[in-house]
Amino acid sequence: MKNTVFLYGAPASGKTTLGRLLADRLGAEFTDLDAEIVSRAGRPIPEIFATDGEGAFRDAESRALAAVAKSPSAPRVVSLGGGTLLRHENRELAEASGAVLCLDTPSDKELERRIGSAAGSRPLGNRARERAHHYGSFPKRVAASFEAGESLVVVGRGIAGDLLSGLPFVADSTVASLYPDLAGAPIFAVPSGEENKTPATVASIWSALAKSGIGRRDVVAAVGGGVTGDLTGFAAATWMRGIDWINFPTTLLSMVDASTGGKTGCDLPEGKNLAGAFHQPRLVVIDTDFLATLPASVLADGRAEMIKHEAIGGLPRAAAPVGVPSAAEIAANLMVKVGIVREDPFERTGRRMLLNCGHTFGHAVEKLSGYELSHGTCVAIGCVAEARLAVALGLAPSGWPAEFAARFAEAGLRTEIPDGMSESELRAVMAGDKKKARGGIVDFALPCGWGDVRIVPVDVSRELPRC
Ligand SMILES: NC(=O)c1ccc[n+]([C@@H]2O[C@H](COP(=O)([O-])OP(=O)(O)OC[C@H]3O[C@@H](n4cnc5c(N)ncnc54)[C@H](O)[C@@H]3O)[C@@H](O)[C@H]2O)c1
Ligand SMILES: [Zn+2]
Repeated sequence: MKNTVFLYGAPASGKTTLGRLLADRLGAEFTDLDAEIVSRAGRPIPEIFATDGEGAFRDAESRALAAVAKSPSAPRVVSLGGGTLLRHENRELAEASGAVLCLDTPSDKELERRIGSAAGSRPLGNRARERAHHYGSFPKRVAASFEAGESLVVVGRGIAGDLLSGLPFVADSTVASLYPDLAGAPIFAVPSGEENKTPATVASIWSALAKSGIGRRDVVAAVGGGVTGDLTGFAAATWMRGIDWINFPTTLLSMVDASTGGKTGCDLPEGKNLAGAFHQPRLVVIDTDFLATLPASVLADGRAEMIKHEAIGGLPRAAAPVGVPSAAEIAANLMVKVGIVREDPFERTGRRMLLNCGHTFGHAVEKLSGYELSHGTCVAIGCVAEARLAVALGLAPSGWPAEFAARFAEAGLRTEIPDGMSESELRAVMAGDKKKARGGIVDFALPCGWGDVRIVPVDVSRELPRC
C-alpha cells in the first residue's frame, strides 16, 4: 500500500470500522484522527466544540493532520473526520502525503440502521447532503466493504494502485501490460489463458516467491482474472505451508465469483480444478476501473454468473445487464455468493451447491465443445436448459425458461444448446462427472424462478423429462 492511506467520507460512512480492518489486513498501523485530536487536547471533541468553537476544533484538527502526515515511519491507514478535508490546505496535504480514498455516503435508511434512530441520523444525513459536492469531488472511491469469511472485501473505483503499492504481486500478463503503472513490476506474470492454469505455472510462482525472499509472515497479491487468482491463491496456500494472500480481481467474473469463497487450485490433464486447496484471501480489492479494458465477450462471461446470482438470490433486476456494472451492483451481486459461502464454507452441508445453478448442464456443454465455448456462455446455456428441466419436473411455470433466456440475451449471451450436441452425449458427460454423479444420479441446482433455486436429484442414466 501507499505509505499512508487516508479514508475520508461523510460522518457515519464507516471510515473508522473500515480503517481498522484494512490496516489489519495490510499489516499497517491504524490512526483515527479524531482520537488523535482528543489525545492531544486531553478533552473530548464535543467539549472542544462547546467551549472553544468550531474554528478552534478545525485548527486542532489541521495540526493533528499535519503531525500524522509528517510521520510515515511505517505504513498506516488513517481515518479522517467527516469534515477534515473541507479546508483546502488539508486536502492538498493529504493528497500530497498519501492516497485519499473517499467512502460513498450511506443512504438515509442505511444511516438510520447504523445509528439506530431516525432522529439521530437526520442531522447527519442533512450534513452529508450539504457536502455532497465536496465528497463527490474525490475521484478514488469506496462504494462498499464487508467481511466474507476470513476475507475483507472492498469494492470501489481507482483504489487498486494505492493498495497494491509495495506488495509483491503475481499478475496476469495481459493485465500487467495494460496497466504498467499500477504498482511496478510483478514478481511473476502468468501467461494469459486457461491453458496456463497448470501445476507448471504454480511451480513458476513458487520459484518467484523463493527468488523474492517471501517468508512465512509475508503476503503475496494476485492481480488478474480467475486464472491468476486461483493459481496465486494455491501457490500461497502451499508456500511454506501457507502464507497470506490478497486478491485484486480484474475480470467481472472474478469480481462477482472467483475472488471470494477460498477455492484455489489448478487444472490437470485429467480435469479442471482437480488439484487445489481452500485458502481465503485476507483481503479482496475490487476496483471496477479494470473493467474498462475487458473485451465484451469476457465481460459477458461475468454477466452470466451475475444473472445466476440473480436467480439464486432474487436480486432486483431493474437495469438491463449491459455495459460495465457499477461498484454498488457488483457488491450487491457478490453478496449472494458471500451469504451462501458463509453458511457452508467447505462445501459440506449442501448449501453451497446452490451456486452450481446452471453449471451441471453448463460444464457438460463446455466439455463437449472442447472448451471452445467460454464458461459464461456455457453457464447461460446450462441455466436455461436446467430451467426447462425444472418445468418438465413440474417445479417451475412454463414461461420461466423464456424469461430467464431473455435476461441472458440482453447481456449478449446465447442460450440454445449448440447444434450437434445430443442429449445423450450431454447426459453421458454428466453421469461421468466423478465429482458429482453417484450411480447416474446427479444433484442439480435447478433454477425454478427468480430467488428460487432448488437442489433436485435427477437420474441422468435415462432420458430427461421434456417440457
Ligand atoms: N475460485 C473460484 O471460486 C472460482 C469461481 C469461478 C471461476 N473460477 C475460475 O476462474 C477462471 C475464469 O476466470 P476469468 O473468466 O476471470 O478468466 P481469466 O483469468 O482467464 O481472464 C479472462 C481473460 O481476460 C484477460 N483479462 C483479465 N483482466 C483483464 C482486464 N482488466 N482487461 C483486459 N483483459 C483482462 C485475461 O488475460 C484473460 O485473457 C477459471 O479458471 C475458473 O475455474 C474460480
Ligand atoms: Zn461458473
